Amino acid sequence: MSKGFDPRFMQELKQKNDIVDLIGSYVALDRKGNTHWACCPFHHERTPSFAVNQAEQFYHCFGCGVSGDVVRFVQEIESTDFMGAVRILAARAKMEVPESNFDTEQAARLRKKRDTIAAIMLDTARFYLSNLYSGDERAQAHLQYISNRKLSPTTVKKFGLGASLDFFSLPDYLMDKGYSREDLLDSGAVGEAKNGKLVDFEAGRLIFPIINAMDEVVAFGGRILEKADFAKYKNTRETMLFNKRKTLYNINLLKKLKRQKSFKEVIMVEGYMDTISLYQAGFENVVASMGTSLTTEQARLVKRYTDNVMISYDGDFAGQNADLRGLEILKDERLNVRVVPMPDGLDPDDVAKQGKEAYQKCLDAAMPLVDYKIHALERKYDLTQTDEKRRFVAEALQVIATAESEAVKEDLLKKLRDKTGISYHALERDMLASKNNPAPVEPAQPVHAQIAETASGADARNKAVRFILAAKLFSAPYAKGFDVRTLSLSDETQIIVANYIAEREEAGERIRPSELFELLDENSNELNEILDLSYGDKLTGEVAEKFFFDSVRTIEREDIEAEINTLTAEYKAETDNEKRKAIAVKLTACIQKRNRIKQESKIRK
Ligand code: UTP
Ligand code: MN
Repeated sequence: MSKGFDPRFMQELKQKNDIVDLIGSYVALDRKGNTHWACCPFHHERTPSFAVNQAEQFYHCFGCGVSGDVVRFVQEIESTDFMGAVRILAARAKMEVPESNFDTEQAARLRKKRDTIAAIMLDTARFYLSNLYSGDERAQAHLQYISNRKLSPTTVKKFGLGASLDFFSLPDYLMDKGYSREDLLDSGAVGEAKNGKLVDFEAGRLIFPIINAMDEVVAFGGRILEKADFAKYKNTRETMLFNKRKTLYNINLLKKLKRQKSFKEVIMVEGYMDTISLYQAGFENVVASMGTSLTTEQARLVKRYTDNVMISYDGDFAGQNADLRGLEILKDERLNVRVVPMPDGLDPDDVAKQGKEAYQKCLDAAMPLVDYKIHALERKYDLTQTDEKRRFVAEALQVIATAESEAVKEDLLKKLRDKTGISYHALERDMLASKNNPAPVEPAQPVHAQIAETASGADARNKAVRFILAAKLFSAPYAKGFDVRTLSLSDETQIIVANYIAEREEAGERIRPSELFELLDENSNELNEILDLSYGDKLTGEVAEKFFFDSVRTIEREDIEAEINTLTAEYKAETDNEKRKAIAVKLTACIQKRNRIKQESKIRK
């Protein structure tokens, strides 16, 4: 499949990138007869079941079932899409990538924009880094802070830490390099002050570059040096390059580590400093979720490197249910989860500072999630008090009832018996009784209500777009009259899907969702999200219909909101009276339209 490229180009590309050479540059291959073997880079294993067939130029893993050609291999191993893989292979073979008619104009524009933003972020990271060692006396505070936190120069370099010294040098520097104001703002590295001046978004902070698996700087975390009322860390807002849900801090070094040696688990921490301290102490197999609850995308990302995750959060996290839910997400992706108990009030950074052994001790005490939940409950209650002990037992039994197997339940019940002195039989009977009589759960909501409730901002918009595209793809009758070309989209996959739908409709041809696999990477997360909506009856019935029109209005409202913002800014900046009037007219029309949309949605509700 050439996906819009001249088939001759694809042929040459593949000829010049022999699959054994290529894969051999990522993993050690061992030749036996016609086949080369390796431990699969896509799932964790100890004995090689990943086979590369040189004659046919494809690979297949007998362990996890993945297979493909050179292009697919690069897509998978570099976490990139088809176009990205083609570019990597072309660079490797010193070939030019021809214009592809698959790359629609819009997609090509997006790609160019993305490249520019990546260049801005890289230049920014270098700028911050050079500040740190520039001898500028304002950098003394940053250096002092680094030394207070016991980070060695090697570590600082490894993580590319840097310093922002003020508000204006960064934007000045970047403008001098020739970047446009618009691109700078779109990168998120630079913001706009009320007076319209460009300012360093991280002004004055200590900088932690966030780097993706492709070694691109996608965002920054910036820490204030002294206690203040501002947020301790400020992270780059989401941009074309930075999707927080899909990012793990230190994934770049983890990827390199995986090529050098095998590790049996990945340690998942919350913070930048936790990551860096553990790394410095010799625990290099560490990544950070950056404070938020874990997402499915993050879980899939670690899954590329390991099946075993050690959760190493702050000592007090157990009580917070949101975090425990994050751990369920890991389990849903079939990762083995263990939780590293931390002394009260300390985080991994604090423990690592006490020495490698101190943290190793915590690691050695890691336990499965259910055990950890009970361990956490035990710390919550004072077991010498009868009433507290009873509450502890009741809650612990509820946890045990959720264990995955009878064997685990039995084991946990025995431990509970030993802790409390209550007989095994009594505990077991109470557990079964509480299971037949479960604590009241919240009534199940229809999926649409859940989507509408949890979503906000960009997230809400994304969900709305996905729902509309899915309804169109699967020919939901209520979606018939809606023209997808009216959607203004920025996600590449969404654009391709929308273009496909529009082209089919214009040609009067049937829409076949399976044809999308020819246009898109099968593993496209975005496509999966859209296709997921076709399961069950999420797209049928009255609720779906209502959700469809709500989605259309959500998007309309956001578009109009954005237009109002732009016009307002233009209006303020305009000095010419006539032009101001013209803008005011447009602005009024937009505001009227917004009010109309609001009115309509009120009526519908
Ligand atoms: P913590 O508050 O646990 O910070 O937040 P920390 O890593 O221990 O920070 P230090 O040791 O005081 O420097 C954990 C992570 O949550 C995110 C950051 O990614 C941080 O590393 N966070 C926290 C923010 O994004 N903003 C904040 O204001 C605070
Ligand atoms: Mn800390």
